[in-house]
Amino acid sequence: MMGRRKLPLAICVLFMACTACFTAPSYVEDPPPTQCTVTPSSRFDCAPDKGVSKEECEARGCCYSPASEHLAIGQPWCYFASNYPSYKVINKSETENGFTAMLSRCVKTFMPDDIMVLQLDILLETDSRLHFTIKDPAKKRYEVPIHTPKCKGKASAVQYDVQITDDPFSLVVRRKSNGQILVNTALAPLFFADQFLQISTSLPSQYLYGLGEHLTSLNLETTWSRLTFWNRDISPKKDTNLYGSHPFYLALEKDGSAHGVFLLNSNAMDVLLQPAPALTWRTTGGILDFYVFLGPEPKAVIQQYQEVIGLPFMPPYWGLGFHICRWGYSTSDMTREVVKNMSKANMPLDVQWNDIDYMDAYRDFTYDQTRFKDYSEMVKEFHEQGRKYIMIVDPAISSSSPPGSYAPYDDGLKRGVFITNGTGQPLVGKVWPGLTVFPDFTNPETFRWWYDMAKDFHDKVPYDGMWIDMNEPSNFVAGSLDGCPDNTLENPPYVPAVIGGTLRHATICTSSQQNISSHYNLHNLYGLSEAIASHYALVKIRGKRPFIISRSTFASHGHYAGHWTGDVFSTWEQLYYTIPAILLFNMYGVPLVGADICGFVGNTTEELCVRWSQLGAFYPFMRNHNDHDSQPQEPYVFSEKSQTAIRNALYIRYSLLPYLYTLFHKAHSSGDTVARALFMEFPTDPNTWTIDRQFLWGEALLITPVLEQGKTEVNGYFPSGTWYSLVTGVQLQSKGQWVTLPAPMDTINVHVRGGCILPLQLPGMTTQESRKNGLVLVVALTTEGFARGDLFWDDGDSLETFERRDFTQVLFIAANNVLLSEVIQLNSQADGLKLQSVQIYGIASPPKKVLVNQVATEDFTYRKDTKVFSVEKLSLPIKSQFTITWS
Ligand SMILES: *[C@@H]1O[C@H](CO)[C@@H](O)[C@H](O)[C@H]1NC(C)=O
Ligand SMILES: *[C@@H]1O[C@H](CO)[C@@H](O)[C@H](O)[C@H]1NC(C)=O
Ligand SMILES: *[C@@H]1O[C@H](CO)[C@@H](O)[C@H](O)[C@H]1NC(C)=O
Ligand SMILES: *[C@@H]1O[C@H](CO)[C@@H](O)[C@H](O)[C@H]1NC(C)=O
Ligand SMILES: *[C@@H]1O[C@H](CO)[C@@H](O)[C@H](O)[C@H]1NC(C)=O
Repeated sequence: MMGRRKLPLAICVLFMACTACFTAPSYVEDPPPTQCTVTPSSRFDCAPDKGVSKEECEARGCCYSPASEHLAIGQPWCYFASNYPSYKVINKSETENGFTAMLSRCVKTFMPDDIMVLQLDILLETDSRLHFTIKDPAKKRYEVPIHTPKCKGKASAVQYDVQITDDPFSLVVRRKSNGQILVNTALAPLFFADQFLQISTSLPSQYLYGLGEHLTSLNLETTWSRLTFWNRDISPKKDTNLYGSHPFYLALEKDGSAHGVFLLNSNAMDVLLQPAPALTWRTTGGILDFYVFLGPEPKAVIQQYQEVIGLPFMPPYWGLGFHICRWGYSTSDMTREVVKNMSKANMPLDVQWNDIDYMDAYRDFTYDQTRFKDYSEMVKEFHEQGRKYIMIVDPAISSSSPPGSYAPYDDGLKRGVFITNGTGQPLVGKVWPGLTVFPDFTNPETFRWWYDMAKDFHDKVPYDGMWIDMNEPSNFVAGSLDGCPDNTLENPPYVPAVIGGTLRHATICTSSQQNISSHYNLHNLYGLSEAIASHYALVKIRGKRPFIISRSTFASHGHYAGHWTGDVFSTWEQLYYTIPAILLFNMYGVPLVGADICGFVGNTTEELCVRWSQLGAFYPFMRNHNDHDSQPQEPYVFSEKSQTAIRNALYIRYSLLPYLYTLFHKAHSSGDTVARALFMEFPTDPNTWTIDRQFLWGEALLITPVLEQGKTEVNGYFPSGTWYSLVTGVQLQSKGQWVTLPAPMDTINVHVRGGCILPLQLPGMTTQESRKNGLVLVVALTTEGFARGDLFWDDGDSLETFERRDFTQVLFIAANNVLLSEVIQLNSQADGLKLQSVQIYGIASPPKKVLVNQVATEDFTYRKDTKVFSVEKLSLPIKSQFTITWS
């Protein structure tokens, strides 16, 4: 890398002058008057820790101005003066990767333990990715132990400019092409105290997405709101921390360009949004470790983010089928009956689940010898039917069984795998089995122990995947049975707005000790660390792709496992909120995500359950799950009419699985989203920027579900272009407009985008069946008569088929009255897979002559009303190129 290592002399002199305050801060005793003319929308809270009086506020060097309304979160009454002291740059030099600077603060803040000298490192990692960290140069602080790319040297054609202002220190990141400011930290002072780190930035618009996990719309509310990050077991509701933490956002700029910002920090955190628009990161430990992704397309931002956190794992094909579960399937016979009832009702089903009912006294890796005495036979029967089986596993391990009677505890104790308390003993809490201890998945020995336990259990019951729940971790007592010590980790000077008011609420003591750090630092990683351990255990045990669904998550989770959105209520409101949740998790690199269909808590209604099943057929992960004291909600319990509607939705999903699987391949291989927000696909159409009652699968399918009770119509937005009803092929030409669509109870509106080709397959009762059926191509032409699409195909279950290039990939192209295929990659899995029919949408006049591989055929039809042209009775091996010509 060429370039100057030293900065020009003049700048150096300037830096050295700054060091003066380091030794002789002249205004400490006689501070300058505060400068308080700050517009209300740009006031940053100077009293985050507590309510303060006018006197206390002014003693902090801040400005006091009560706002008219007294809201929990709103315009702050006590705010930073524009000359509130912050850090300043004392020296700066170029490095191999970018540059580095020392920052120092002359005046202490109102928070204890300011770190007065900081090191800023700016790394120009790639042309579209900027990385910068601020840390304590004198003492190593906790850093999030996830694997991130390490880059050598500097990127050479960066899309960003970074400017540092020295006094007070601030950093501005601009998009080089148009000068758009992406990050500007000059709006408020930087705080870097031991347990309080805060940095604010401007936002280019109010079109902001991410910062989960919370119950929000897709486009976040920037008029004074607060998002709290502290993984927590709680039914999804607004304005509270939930199960997972993803401190990442995507922001749209005025021209539809997008950038992303990721703060790699796992401590308890608040993010504040205000109408400037501006954002404040406020975290309670670790370091400031930021990534900025330049896009400029929203899709590129998400790909660039996943290059840092890891691409999603490839799920097994069967995992995309229908899953059914309920808390309350209390015997193996009852569990079998569910499968039988599903079969009888002609409902496809791939995976049967059990909740904690199967366990002996709710203990992991045991089963009830009476109620589930033929448990393993049950699972083997499912396997014989071509189905899979998954059961729940909680992390907490029962600690009160008689010694010698429960190996997971005895063995774990011997191997030192449990989190310890202030006196170095295993911390004891309370979960379903009663008294429990908590495995520390940051200890390598715990990985081995977890594998041993999962393997022993698998030797008895050949399960296919794991459902890891309660892993925030959830605890029924605050902290531990013995409470928690009183120290700064338990009672930090600033507690984010967590529900319950204390960090230990519904979890374990934050001062408890894990192998690599305190629980205070590692809490938000508990679910992730369990998912990683479970992933590797399943790979080793089964030698096949692991299937894991976890409640708690953190950035990079999607590399190992999927997620369901937890204990949602059976309400119409929550039905809607599942859409933004699923779209956001796709943006977090967790494409395998779904919500409990028909709702978990409370009784569903028949209508809600039908609508939820129709929407749920388009969750990347599709599971119906119910609470133990709610009324049954399996598809077969409803009226014939409703069963037909649900069956239809299931058939549509099963038909679309080759397309869905291909989308998962694209997520796994290049970081594409599977369920996709409209703005991701149409960023230059501002109408799409807030749409979260509709969504896409990939680029080709638009789903417009009914989300309200009693409705038989639905209003949907159609971005400019040609769209076709998936089922009928009827064309809808849009200039970018809202359209009212009929939506009777048996209908979910799904449209194919002109220009796309979808690979479909006739549905079976399981994916094992459907995978043997003939393929169907749906060809949705543009007005110019063009379309393209592809198919990714492999055995659906083996490890690393993409990495080992053991797959088939076929491209389909339609243009000039010819549909042809091109085989990009071929393996033996394509043997026997045949194209059975083709449906071409948008053909203006009836074709008279049709050639298949140059041979004339009579097996075609054309419908004048829908303009759908079908070629039937084909038997074209997918492994050979084909052409279909019409004129
Ligand atoms: C910058 O300042 C720090 C603290 O005074 C000092 O340790 C370091 O050597 C300086 N670095 C350069 C490149 O001058
Ligand atoms: C299965 O269907 C039968 C007959 O409708 C019903 O009585 C039974 O409760 C169902 N079993 C389960 C577990 O849903
Ligand atoms: C630690 O846990 C043990 C039980 O494992 C308990 O006896 C002890 O009092 C606990 N220590 C603290 C500080 O809570
Ligand atoms: C972390 O785990 C390793 C492997 O089990 C062990 O050798 C080491 O002592 C542990 N460290 C701490 C601080 O507990
Ligand atoms: C659900 O229905 C059952 C049976 O009718 C009833 O006992 C229960 O109270 C209902 N639950 C709620 C939350 O309404």
